[in-house]
Amino acid sequence: MSTSIKFICNCKSVTKKEIINAIRKNNAQTLNDVRVITYATSGCGRCKSEVQGIIDTEIARSKNKGVQYRINFTE
Ligand code: FES
Repeated sequence: MSTSIKFICNCKSVTKKEIINAIRKNNAQTLNDVRVITYATSGCGRCKSEVQGIIDTEIARSKNKGVQYRINFTE
């Protein structure tokens, strides 16, 4: 039995779950935030639109739930 992992970013082997964790747990709100945390989009760049779609979906989801992500200026 084999399991295959679907990467959103094939260049850096980043999964959708890792991108969502970057948004939910590390307050990533932009492509650059996700790139710094996960390295997604830092290779060929073909995954940018898909990563942006995940960011947009997560931010919309948080607004619907009344959750606000905080920006940490101390780092
Ligand atoms: S697939 Fe993400 S940078 Fe190439």
